[in-house]
Amino acid sequence: MTDNSPSSGPRTPLTLLGTGAMGTALGRAWLAAGHPLTVWNRTPERMAGLTAEGAVAAPSAARAVAANRLVVACLLDDASVGAALDGADLAGRDLVNLTTGTPAEGRARATWAEERGARFLDGGIMAVPPMIGAPGAFVLYSGHRDLFDEHRDTLAVPAGTEYVGIDPGHAALHDVALLSGMYGMFAGITHAFALLRGTDVAPGDFAALLVPWLNAMAGSAHQAAERLESGDYTTGVVSTLQMQVAGTDTLLRTAREQGVRPDLLNPFLELMRRRLADGHGTEDTTGLVDLLRTR
Ligand SMILES: NC(=O)c1ccc[n+]([C@@H]2O[C@H](COP(=O)([O-])OP(=O)(O)OC[C@H]3O[C@@H](n4cnc5c(N)ncnc54)[C@H](OP(=O)(O)O)[C@@H]3O)[C@@H](O)[C@H]2O)c1
Repeated sequence: MTDNSPSSGPRTPLTLLGTGAMGTALGRAWLAAGHPLTVWNRTPERMAGLTAEGAVAAPSAARAVAANRLVVACLLDDASVGAALDGADLAGRDLVNLTTGTPAEGRARATWAEERGARFLDGGIMAVPPMIGAPGAFVLYSGHRDLFDEHRDTLAVPAGTEYVGIDPGHAALHDVALLSGMYGMFAGITHAFALLRGTDVAPGDFAALLVPWLNAMAGSAHQAAERLESGDYTTGVVSTLQMQVAGTDTLLRTAREQGVRPDLLNPFLELMRRRLADGHGTEDTTGLVDLLRTR
């Protein structure tokens, strides 16, 4: 991953379509780094913050696209990208789409852009607006490799860059997979706090234990990755499914004792029980990956 430290030399001019919360944060970072910036937004008033800082407002998306070779879109969803760019001449343009979408939408948008004569790069932003321009924020990119390499310095201004493959669907795939991992963690945190609610345990005291515990456990993703790559789900397993499923009863009875619904816990425990019933008691939880697949 590259950092977002500025490099020397003239700054590439670029166009930004979409000055919502995220677009404005991105635009501010490019302006601060000295990049000439043309902006367009469906609701013109929302461009005021960036024009006050030096951006040039275009009267239409088509005019904004005409202004620069590099065009970054950060709009609500894939449909809004199609709506905004309908009628714009994309021939010879480098379109970088930082709008959140699905992998299939990323691939279809790449084909759509290429049919109109543009090179296309899809992006998934792994940050919230206040993180833009600060260390820690990064954007996943996939699609046209030359486009990425040629504009890497410019793209690295608002956030670190992580190129994840030539398939234009891969940025969205990685983005959604990372977010899905995050929501699984949020579910566990939510259940854990619910267990303690109404007791004399201060949430802050518990969080001080929970965070290092989750950080330590997160490393298990590396072991799961090794097992998925080797296809060996049993060698060296210390916490077998057999042992883990036996312990689930304690988790569920504690939830009942504390007056907490098991809704967040049950789906995962149910998968563990099914995998065990299928005869995989000596594995860890890696095999649940295969159980989840529908094709
Ligand atoms: N905010 C975050 O924390 C965050 C984090 C990661 C990724 N993202 C992604 O970044 C993208 C932008 O998010 P945001 O936070 O900037 O959202 P936002 O503040 O709601 O802004 C949405 C932008 O899309 C435009 N838009 C919506 N529908 C449109 C249409 N049909 N035609 C043309 N323009 C349209 C809006 O224009 P108007 O001003 O005219 O409504 C606005 O510029 C999204 O894909 C989001 O998933 C956001």
